[in-house]
Amino acid sequence: MTRLYGAITGWGAYVPPHIVTNHDLEATLDTSDEWIVQRTGIRQRHIAGADETTSTMAIKASLAALAQANLPATELDLILVATSSPDYLTPPASSLVQAALTPHHIPAMTIVTGCTGFVYALVTAYQFIQAGVYRNILVVGVELLSRFLDWRDRSTCVLFGDAAGAVVVQATEQPCGLQGYDLGSDGANCQHIIMPAGGSARPFGPDVLDERSHYIRMNGREVFKFATRIFAPASERALRMAGKCIDDIDWVIPHQANLRIIQAAAKDMGVPLERFIVNIDRYANTSAASIPLALAENLANGRIKPTDTLLLLSFGAGLTWAAAVVQMQPQLHSF
Ligand code: ACO
Repeated sequence: MTRLYGAITGWGAYVPPHIVTNHDLEATLDTSDEWIVQRTGIRQRHIAGADETTSTMAIKASLAALAQANLPATELDLILVATSSPDYLTPPASSLVQAALTPHHIPAMTIVTGCTGFVYALVTAYQFIQAGVYRNILVVGVELLSRFLDWRDRSTCVLFGDAAGAVVVQATEQPCGLQGYDLGSDGANCQHIIMPAGGSARPFGPDVLDERSHYIRMNGREVFKFATRIFAPASERALRMAGKCIDDIDWVIPHQANLRIIQAAAKDMGVPLERFIVNIDRYANTSAASIPLALAENLANGRIKPTDTLLLLSFGAGLTWAAAVVQMQPQLHSF
């Protein structure tokens, strides 16, 4: 049987036009541009407008990715949407995206692993491609976390932004696509990033509203330590599975949570920071959208070449991690 690979043939991103700078936040919070820049590298974030939702942002990024791939949405076989900030707890955001894109009743599923969601979804897409089950898959990472933040809590609200990114993965016989990966979950430490209420453990009610426990709470120091601990070993395992070494990687695209975490990862991995894609200064932490946004932006500006080999590196709620080695290759001639 012919081996099937998955090429990333289309990419797109959407960020809401409204920008909130650190200086803007100084007006309502006991914080400063200096503190935020020094501790995180963030200078501004994009925040969704009142008329936007997670799925409307996802749809915009998806249409851009489909246009780039020159693939009509009606040709899609599967839609995977990674998000932790859906329009509704149910129905899934993935079904809202499917309804907007195609009248065909194709499968659509939402993957909820926090900031690692896009890489988890991408790895899932490749399993369906390699098994020969589906040929054209849309993978979206989208987050509208600004609606889930406590804007009185300076330790969390300054860190996040809203965005969506999407890629089209298409089956091909040319060797490319996912070469290796490492996924993991340390659920015993899940309390470090949590929305304590609003789920079945603590249903929404007046007491929840008073406590503001339906918003994201994070133990920043513990998450920081976890991230810096996990990046190097996860990368090594993904590279080993790919049969590659770090010198084969053209670009590392890390989850954009904190510039200091990215700097620590670069040092641990022995890779110059110049080979890391960094855009946290402009978008802050867009969670599941951060990697597809960085990918789409840097493919569009020509910094990442369509033939480059990439190492995607992420960590997030769960606590989860995800590393993936991806050989880009957008030209499909062998269908
Ligand atoms: N402005 C000013 N001061 C602040 C702010 C702020 N926005 N936030 C916190 N502080 C204060 C604290 O109150 C504390 O004051 P104190 O010493 O008087 O108590 C002081 O600054 C230091 O706080 P720390 O929490 O120790 O600061 P730290 O250097 O650890 O930086 C940060 C905090 C930026 C959150 C960092 O720990 C971090 O980035 N952690 C990782 C978070 C992350 O990556 N999350 C991603 C996953 S999210 C997901 O998956 C959805």
